[in-house]
Amino acid sequence: MAGGNDKPFTIDVSTRIKRLPPYLFARINALKAAKRQAGHDVIDLGMGNPIDPSPAFVIDKLAEAAHDARNHRYSVSVGLYNLRREVARKYKRRYGVDLDPETEVVATIGSKEGFSHLMLALLGAGDTVVVGDPAYPIHVYAVALAGGNVISVPLGNDEAFLQRIEHVLKNLFPRPKLLILNYPHNPSAMTVDSLFYEQTVALAKQYNVLVISDFAYGETCFDGYQAPSFLATAGGKEVGVEFSTMSKPYNMAGWRVGFCCGNSEMVRALSTIKGYYDYGHFAPIQIASILALRNGDEFVRQQADIYQKRRDVLVSGLRKIGWDVQCPRASMFVWAKVSEKHLAGQGTIDFSLRLLDQADVAVAPGRGFGDNGEGFVRIALVENELRIKQALRQMDACLNGKTKIQRPNKLVAGTTAAPAADTSAGPHAEHTLDDHPNVVGG
Ligand SMILES: Cc1ncc(COP(=O)(O)O)c(C=O)c1O
Repeated sequence: MAGGNDKPFTIDVSTRIKRLPPYLFARINALKAAKRQAGHDVIDLGMGNPIDPSPAFVIDKLAEAAHDARNHRYSVSVGLYNLRREVARKYKRRYGVDLDPETEVVATIGSKEGFSHLMLALLGAGDTVVVGDPAYPIHVYAVALAGGNVISVPLGNDEAFLQRIEHVLKNLFPRPKLLILNYPHNPSAMTVDSLFYEQTVALAKQYNVLVISDFAYGETCFDGYQAPSFLATAGGKEVGVEFSTMSKPYNMAGWRVGFCCGNSEMVRALSTIKGYYDYGHFAPIQIASILALRNGDEFVRQQADIYQKRRDVLVSGLRKIGWDVQCPRASMFVWAKVSEKHLAGQGTIDFSLRLLDQADVAVAPGRGFGDNGEGFVRIALVENELRIKQALRQMDACLNGKTKIQRPNKLVAGTTAAPAADTSAGPHAEHTLDDHPNVVGG
């Protein structure tokens, strides 16, 4: 036996992991997990993880295709041709955009994977990327993991925002390589109209900056609003790509199907990276997704209506508890400014911890999405209307001390929990997946 070496064995992770920014949702996740373990019925409005089922006809197709042994082999990393063709057809049908399925569409393992690998395909050490603040965290993390640097610009959806970006493009050397856009926006639910994209394309051409549009909430729109696709803008395909997903519109988040469409060179760069890293989705998932894209328009519309109704309940309830809340016209979130009185001098991370601790309601602190998110919380529309009302009552009791709410308390070992007041709608958050750090901020 070798002996005499008392040096501790160490594992040194890569610089790319070390340069990740601090993970600001960690304390909230830990408390949420601890509360659940102690038997609390936490109403989780923290994450954009859809609770409603995927379309039944899509599940049926998945099951049928899974029984066919021909579908059990490795698939192709860019996605089946028929799937890419169906995406192109949908873009044409909904947005009037022409896409070549061979060169301008690639299937990704969720848009998050696609986005992250595109960063790896386009960025090298020292390259810079312009991102609005606040931002969906992967828009920052993926840049950092690819060795790039993020230039944060206070978020907006108007000319002033584009002027801020132009100022950076004009004055920074080396010039930023990419501009990340995300409308309807996570977390702020901000939206744009097509004029904004026309101005963006002009800016991109003038400064030779590539544009990446994250269109995850493109089909979750309310009150007749239709979010424009960046690719529908004249010149859009010359300067950029757009990510879309099955996760939100079709309630297929766990299936991990997304797409990157647009500029063929950018699509090729992403396809090249993916060709080295993966073999594509399980073919039955792709086959079922084809059917969803082909026959799911009505499902998508109805799902948006469900979110709209939850939005109405949440926005009016928050106003009643004293918050000045804007009513979003898209996305799965209400981005709510917390009243000064209720913040009571705390930052939103501590405020959200207090709400979780005292009201058993989980929300995402705005600070977790960037400095400019401070003062806001993001509340996801991922519980049914009854549960959202229950959450509002618990928040009211905690923050205004008005209503006395009966809630299930800590489970004492060997006993069962007392039934919760008005949980007839049933808790949806009884799963551990939610507590995994990777999904927070989603
Ligand atoms: C803006 C945005 N982009 C991308 C994603 C990830 O979606 P997907 O499930 O397609 O990876 C999310 C998920 O919450 C999101 O909010």
